Amino acid sequence: MTAKISLTRYLVEKQRVDESVPSHLRLLIEVVARACKSISHAVNKGALGGVLGTAHTENVQGEVQKKLDIIANEVLIEANEWGGHLAAMASEEMDEILAVPHRYPQGEYLLLFDPLDGSSNIDVNVSIGTIFSVLKKPENGHGQAVSEQDFLQCGSRQVAAGYCIYGPQTTLVLTVGDGVAMFTLDREQGSFVLTEDQVRIPEDTKEFAINMSNMRHWDAPVRRYVDECLEGKEGPRGKDFNMRWVASMVADVHRILTRGGIFMYPWDKREPEKPGKLRLMYEANPMSWLVEQAGGAATNGRQRILDVQPKKLHERVSVILGSKNEVERVTKYHGT
Ligand code: AHG
Ligand code: MN
Ligand code: MN
Repeated sequence: MTAKISLTRYLVEKQRVDESVPSHLRLLIEVVARACKSISHAVNKGALGGVLGTAHTENVQGEVQKKLDIIANEVLIEANEWGGHLAAMASEEMDEILAVPHRYPQGEYLLLFDPLDGSSNIDVNVSIGTIFSVLKKPENGHGQAVSEQDFLQCGSRQVAAGYCIYGPQTTLVLTVGDGVAMFTLDREQGSFVLTEDQVRIPEDTKEFAINMSNMRHWDAPVRRYVDECLEGKEGPRGKDFNMRWVASMVADVHRILTRGGIFMYPWDKREPEKPGKLRLMYEANPMSWLVEQAGGAATNGRQRILDVQPKKLHERVSVILGSKNEVERVTKYHGT
């Protein structure tokens, strides 16, 4: 019988073989995984743990926070602040960056997260998740305090990224720039076990994911693409398409990594001054890197998402990601 490979062993071997995972990065990933395990337990308890419902507060984006948004945020902070691997953290649920308190050693990494993705699905018992992205703190002179500016790096500079999905199974999906690996939580053992390595997204698909209720607000290229899918066999695509929309990005991306598909949350006319709904630094960037590492593509319609230079922490972006040929088609419709 072949031995099960735990997340720890996977990371230790990466550290040993090609040094792609330095020891502090390994520690960071393990700490995030441990926090996700704890969030998973809270999610599983649901009403029994008193974690459902609203917290009656708003985050910086003006969204009403759920109790679990806040719990997950606190779990991630408490797990990460004392290990010595981080300089600072940033989260969807915090207006500003959180520097590691002076009483703890300072590390060289920056951690960004969406503590609870798919908040509208918490109370209805549908898959939700945690998304994270890791950057290195730029060298900016000895002793200089970490600032928001240090975080404003393109997604192509990420050194690790992933998500943990809390669904029928709890699965951690990770890239350190060497393909995508999936680890399923073994609740009896309390550890994440490697269940899929070198994940590949098929280049073609017959499945698209978009919130169709926004159709009247879309731009012409996205409308054209979806219209053509809807025309099915008789239309220009010559095949019937299926549609899925979970309304948790983690769940939609997980499906795409598992069986292919295209996910879109494009710019629309509801709030024309915003480039999109999803956040660049802790939603779009980590997911785009995972998708690219699995052979897919991710653009904002005009540009590779990983090349977008962030101007602010909570910046939003239009997202088109998934099976390569479909993403390229939608991007081409945008005239690029
Ligand atoms: P969050 O819960 O972190 O705010 O993110 C929700 C996001 C994303 O997960 C999902 O794809 C999208 O919002 C769903 O939006 P709609 O409700 O507009 O479909
Ligand atoms: Mn989210
Ligand atoms: Mn969230």
